Amino acid sequence: MKKFIKKLLPKSVISFIRKSITHVKLSFLPLAHKSRFFSSFYYLISNEFSNEHQAVLKGRKAYHESLKEIGETCALLRRNTHRLEKGLIMRPRRSVFAEGFIQETVDCYKDAVKSKLLAETEKKWATDVLDEYFKIAGATAITEQARKTYKEARQKLPDVFELAAEFPSEDASYKPYSHEQLPNTDISFDELKQLFIRRRSVRWYQDKKVPLDLVQQAANIASFAPSACNRQPYRFLFCNEKEKAVAIAKCAGGTTGFAENLPAMIAIVGDLSAYPYERDRHLIYIDGSLAAMQLMLALETLGLSTCSINWPEVDANERKIRKVIKLKDYERVVMLLAVGYADASGGIPYSQKKANQLILEDISQ
Ligand SMILES: Cc1cc2nc3c(=O)[nH]c(=O)nc-3n(C[C@H](O)[C@H](O)[C@H](O)COP(=O)(O)O)c2cc1C
Repeated sequence: MKKFIKKLLPKSVISFIRKSITHVKLSFLPLAHKSRFFSSFYYLISNEFSNEHQAVLKGRKAYHESLKEIGETCALLRRNTHRLEKGLIMRPRRSVFAEGFIQETVDCYKDAVKSKLLAETEKKWATDVLDEYFKIAGATAITEQARKTYKEARQKLPDVFELAAEFPSEDASYKPYSHEQLPNTDISFDELKQLFIRRRSVRWYQDKKVPLDLVQQAANIASFAPSACNRQPYRFLFCNEKEKAVAIAKCAGGTTGFAENLPAMIAIVGDLSAYPYERDRHLIYIDGSLAAMQLMLALETLGLSTCSINWPEVDANERKIRKVIKLKDYERVVMLLAVGYADASGGIPYSQKKANQLILEDISQ
């Protein structure tokens, strides 16, 4: 309908209508910002947040459904395993902790380990942590009931999961370890600075295929980025098929003039089905961006350059991208990332960085 009207009306009329709408909206701002009630009313009329509202609700629905039939990953099990690990490293460690959520955890564990899809690493992490928890947990009515549920579910699994550990811990088990066990790093501040300076937003690329295995390597270490309760609510969707990559790039407004030369694209998408509550709705953007940053730096060390591409909340763009890439309805694009081998003669904007005093303030006193 909108498209049809746009085609029908002269540009000057469309521009007039747009300006008038903006003017009306601005005239309501002084009142609308004054209270939550007025703000909500404002956004009932002006629907800028409606897409996000719906996606958050779809995410919450999918969260509850995902607990009925657990797939490759389980947000609740990941969160609660993480909470148990925090209890295990607490100083002083209490002999009884996690009573508020231990039954929920073992009930979820029981269902999760039955799933043929659940990732073995996720199963091992939950098992190793729960083994450790029940080794030290004092006996109360709650912990004993949970212990019973756990024992029943645990019996059906191997004593030890033969999986390598990426972090240092005894017997390659996935459970808390001490800081002194971490490997030292010989990367100096200056070397890191050099890498940070080397990573610039690159918009001009060689016409050269980006190998999938390099992106896989980079994604693998990018996933060491922190994420709230270790839920990692994001996916990297990689496309090195030129035509499709350009189509993805063109869904965003910020690629005008250079979309055609982009050899590969990564869509960083956030998964709102990781959360039962609205309060966590921003985490997909925070966790997704932290991982994206690590991805960019990792790619840089592999000789690949990147350019983040903005994904503002624009209905039309949302519709466009969902035609090009398959997204679940509770998945949201966090940002796009162009990736490729830089054209050596391509220009790089200077992009002056803000002075230290503008970004760092000592608030100790
Ligand atoms: C979230 C985000 C969105 C961005 N969107 C675009 C974009 O749409 N188009 C573009 O050319 N550059 C985009 N950039 C790149 C920025 O312009 C660039 O990071 C900034 O100017 C600093 O330059 P540097 O990355 O070389 O340090 C984006 C960067 C970020 C972090």
